[in-house]
Amino acid sequence: MARKIVVTSGKGGVGKTSVLASLGICLAAKGKNVLMIDGDVGLNNLDVVMGMESRVVFDMADAIDGKCHINQALLQEEGSSLYLLPSAHAYSSERITSASFRELIGRIENMFDFILIDCPAGIDGGFHRAVSCCDEALLVTTPHIPAIRDGDKVLAILRSYKLNSINLIVNRIRGDFVVSGKMMSGGEISNVLRCPLIGTVPEDDAVTVYSQLGRIGMNRSASRDAIDMIAGNIVDNTYRLYDVTKGHRGLIGKLKRLMTSRI
Ligand SMILES: Nc1ncnc2c1ncn2[C@@H]1O[C@H](COP(=O)(O)OP(=O)(O)OP(=O)(O)O)[C@@H](O)[C@H]1O
Ligand SMILES: [Mg+2]
Repeated sequence: MARKIVVTSGKGGVGKTSVLASLGICLAAKGKNVLMIDGDVGLNNLDVVMGMESRVVFDMADAIDGKCHINQALLQEEGSSLYLLPSAHAYSSERITSASFRELIGRIENMFDFILIDCPAGIDGGFHRAVSCCDEALLVTTPHIPAIRDGDKVLAILRSYKLNSINLIVNRIRGDFVVSGKMMSGGEISNVLRCPLIGTVPEDDAVTVYSQLGRIGMNRSASRDAIDMIAGNIVDNTYRLYDVTKGHRGLIGKLKRLMTSRI
């Protein structure tokens, strides 16, 4: 039976889809069978950042409506144990109920070690549909106050679901800002939210570039290394953290900060 993990956030645009895609790639690279489900129904993003959008023939709604077998809707990443179930493109989100979503997942969960569900931002129906199918949650936030505040609201709701675990990922951290005290660290945000910190991911231009090329997480980069550590933590049930301040401490770090402050 798969471990079913929802990737969620309060505020939109904090990096759920980016983190989930790279996490899927890293888990599959560890030999796990992984299914990523785009739970943001009506808005397809996951197939785009994975570069799979042109391969979509059937989607989640087709499988629910019985227009295809569920296996026909799954897209496999070439040479990998990673699969994607695309979101229903031309379908209003309300038409997919929690019950039909759960039933769909029930049909395939024995085929996978992990099912990662990309959740729409906020706390509307799509959020409840995704969370109600899962037994673990990853809350993604950035180190910015509006995202942390909205994350706190989502946490309160997640806790009411009695999940097996809720862990925090802080994305887009600027190590130089953390060292100079201009940005909260992952640990500080974890304390404020009273949520265990399972990952810290640096701000990384590679995410922006490769997501537009449909190759997110496939190339070595700082964020990919950080997410690989999160994948290891999920598999091993550990809490090892990527050091986002690496290269920003000590004399050289100070000099680099001085130089960039002049630009
Ligand atoms: N670590 C990072 N470094 C730099 N840019 C990032 C990072 N993570 C995400 N981004 C960028 O942030 C933007 C939003 O990311 P993404 O679409 O993954 O967020 P989301 O939470 O899924 O958004 P939505 O709530 O709209 O679904 C994208 O342009 C992405 O490239
Ligand atoms: Mg998204």
